[in-house]
Amino acid sequence: MKLVLLGPPGAGKGTQAANLAKKYQIPAISTGHIIRAAISAQTPMGKIAEGFIARGELVPDDTVLEIVRNRLKEDDCQCGYILDGFPRTLEQAKMMDEHEIGVDVVVDIEVPDEVLIERLSGRRECKKCGATYHVLHNPPKVSEKCDQCGGELVRRSDDVPEVIRKRLAVYHSQTEPLKEYYRSQEKLTIVYGQEELAETTHAVLSAVAEAEAGL
Ligand code: AP5
Ligand code: MG
Repeated sequence: MKLVLLGPPGAGKGTQAANLAKKYQIPAISTGHIIRAAISAQTPMGKIAEGFIARGELVPDDTVLEIVRNRLKEDDCQCGYILDGFPRTLEQAKMMDEHEIGVDVVVDIEVPDEVLIERLSGRRECKKCGATYHVLHNPPKVSEKCDQCGGELVRRSDDVPEVIRKRLAVYHSQTEPLKEYYRSQEKLTIVYGQEELAETTHAVLSAVAEAEAGL
């Protein structure tokens, strides 16, 4: 299955991508995580992306497309994938079509902006594997340590109020139009992600199972 997760910053794309990856045994690919790793390693791509991420703006479409195309060549993607945070502009969605990067189902996780600010302020991310936690809603078993790999949990540098506001504005102007794009292709399914984490997980897994049955 080829899945796309849409939704604003903090909606729970990363959290639900991990659940779906476990259930369907396909990789969850977060463009944001790949870019942050490239910035840490100071690769040429990381150096291009650094300023955009710091300002809460989108990294150029060509750069992100190349990241995704390279990742999808790997063996683990041959039976399907979950794209978390790509595409994020209409241009990226059209580029995907041109490069025959398939999409079966698009899950849009909707959460009001005021809830997102609280989510992002309490989020912690594993520096090593990118797993996502929340100090209240999804705490790690051992404080500040990743349950999966033991890596250090940190607050993302773009999870500060000023950058969060910019990311939300960018989402509403550049990414939200994708809902219409995929609705017109009858691939869009909407989940309301403002309840408890376990309820959202249940809603996402049910929505994907239902969409899969109709494929
Ligand atoms: P990216 O890393 O994708 O960030 P984002 O889209 O801003 O989304 P987040 O990762 O912040 O949130 P999420 O939806 O994954 O939520 P999470 O599961 O962590 O992108 C970062 C940057 O990279 C972009 O700003 C851009 O510059 C660049 N970039 C990436 N892709 C790009 C692209 N395609 N084109 C151009 N540029 C690109 O959950 C958030 C918190 O809430 C966690 O603490 C979690 O535990 C908690 N939580 C989750 N669900 C619930 C729930 N239901 N109830 C309570 N708590 C919950
Ligand atoms: Mg994420």
